[in-house]
Amino acid sequence: MANRLPDSPAQVFDRTKPVTIQYRNRPVSAFEGDTVASALMASGIDTFSRSFKYHRRRGASCLTGNCCRCTMSVDGRMHVKTCQTAVRAGMVIEPHGNVELDLKALGGLFSRAMPTGFYYKSFYRPAWLWKLIKEIFRAMPGNMAAVSPLDVKPEYDAVNLSPDLLVVGGGLAGMEAAITAAEAGIRVVLAEADPHLGGFEAYQGEAGHRRVQESIRRLERFANVRVLTSTRVSAIYPDGVAICIQACDPAVKQHFVERSYHVRAGATVVATGAGSMPMLFKTMSCLASCCLRQRKGSCICGASSRAKRCCWPAVTTTLPRWVSS
Ligand code: FES
Repeated sequence: MANRLPDSPAQVFDRTKPVTIQYRNRPVSAFEGDTVASALMASGIDTFSRSFKYHRRRGASCLTGNCCRCTMSVDGRMHVKTCQTAVRAGMVIEPHGNVELDLKALGGLFSRAMPTGFYYKSFYRPAWLWKLIKEIFRAMPGNMAAVSPLDVKPEYDAVNLSPDLLVVGGGLAGMEAAITAAEAGIRVVLAEADPHLGGFEAYQGEAGHRRVQESIRRLERFANVRVLTSTRVSAIYPDGVAICIQACDPAVKQHFVERSYHVRAGATVVATGAGSMPMLFKTMSCLASCCLRQRKGSCICGASSRAKRCCWPAVTTTLPRWVSS
């Protein structure tokens, strides 16, 4: 817990409610409200996976569920985004492979011999060679694990909803749209990808936190608003049907994994705001910029303000100064 920042009114975890999770067969202390990623990082664990090709160390990068650097096995389920998964006492977390000592990283010494896409144009002749090499390549990626069956069959659910209005995004703008509609008696479904409402504003210090709490209080007054947190709207079709996937809280139902909502709304408001993206630099190729931002210890700007909400100092760099100068 040495890596925690001092208490802040905007933090999302509760220091009075400690929980213990298991990481590689050792106990890791966390607090209720932590994500698995924030708990691991607060305990000094910063390598979450290895890169696809050269097996370089990768830490959490976006904290928004968009980059996949933080995926691990959680309670036997592979490829779970730990930055989007709330901790629960007794949870068992395993990285995909031995991320601390990965001998395949030695392949990076030969990176000059393996430029981007070399695998698309090499080893095709003689034909028998490709069959052999293909299987080797398939087993190589550093961020994947061998598929193994789960001990317990996970449960899924599908729900149909027909509100008058679907609001995508539970930041200040989304909440305001939902409140305005609800005041007019309109039935609203509000879908937010994060486990908490507030979006960008929730990470803007105490003042932002106060504004978010005030909006949440106003929203809660309306019985005609249904709020779905941890819910990604993965598709909106031309006829207005939206497919929303909710990652279910394991504390509510142990093995309930996901619920899909088929929302047939009369109208849709998209209030998803903006997201941080890694910068590209004139002096660097797209690939080099990309690799740099994915290094362990660097993250995109939005992630560091999110991390602060977990009172974890996060990475202190977004990109090294020499790159941005
Ligand atoms: S998806 Fe978790 S850090 Fe990007």
